[in-house]
Amino acid sequence: MKGILLAGGYGTRLYPSTVSVVKQLLPIYDKPMIYYPLSLLMQAGIREILLITTPEALPAFQRLFRDGEDLGISLSYAVQKEPAGIAEALLIGADFIGEDSVCLALGDNLFYGEDLPARLRDAMHENEGATVFLTSVENPADFGICTWDEKGNLQKIEEKPNAPRSSFAVTGLYLYNADVVRIARTICPSARGELEITDVNNEYIRRGLLKTIFLRADDRWFDMGTPDALLETAFFVKALSKKGIFVGSPEAVAWQNGWITKDRLDARLGEKKGSAYGGYILGLAGNKE
Ligand code: TTP
Repeated sequence: MKGILLAGGYGTRLYPSTVSVVKQLLPIYDKPMIYYPLSLLMQAGIREILLITTPEALPAFQRLFRDGEDLGISLSYAVQKEPAGIAEALLIGADFIGEDSVCLALGDNLFYGEDLPARLRDAMHENEGATVFLTSVENPADFGICTWDEKGNLQKIEEKPNAPRSSFAVTGLYLYNADVVRIARTICPSARGELEITDVNNEYIRRGLLKTIFLRADDRWFDMGTPDALLETAFFVKALSKKGIFVGSPEAVAWQNGWITKDRLDARLGEKKGSAYGGYILGLAGNKE
């Protein structure tokens, strides 16, 4: 399975922080936001990843990750000229996806759960059409919300409904089989002018091929789109790190997966050894400062 990381968008709710820096490069405690979803894809074993971002932010991401070799992955880049919707990522990534299956991850979502990477891996293996991950939210009018009929069958997903029929939202992690590009080509822009990922998911429902997985009560999911969410997520990451649980490090995942050598890990850190982040990575590889 291939991976697509979507890291563009308007970032309106984070204005003015997003005027000169794309949202997904803003720091969440000790590292850029994009590190968290990238690490999750890598933990699930995905090594071929396409990062899609704005024309302005592209050089910054390239400076951060280059071609991914330092992280034991193959990372390529594509540009989304305008934020024309999440589903446009599947069109931009059409050649990259080819006839493979794909995991699409939003660059501003953080997932944390003890064996979540293993559950994601299982879902990848079992995926027949599409798989989405659901969680209950307090503000359903802001998300794609699921509706079930009386028999408990998933009927449809409604994008930002005025009168939500449940509190279960679709989170920013989607698994698709190779049909997804053909499906994405058939959808039209919504009233707000975007190619909606919800329309893609509804087509899978129509075909009887959308599987839903509920996040567990002890899982955490953060949609880091607002100032409050940035702060809340940063405190969460800080609290974990004080307990010795270090999340969202692609270098650590690459090392733990056996994808990079110690020399490459050292080279990757280079001048950054003096940071708290660098110190942690050095410790992983058995080095001392
Ligand atoms: P949103 O958070 O829904 O939108 P946004 O990032 O433009 O922010 P705001 O609503 O504050 O203006 O987008 C979800 C994720 O998808 C986020 O990581 C940005 C990304 N995205 C794109 O890369 N391209 C797009 O066309 C859209 C709509 C979103």
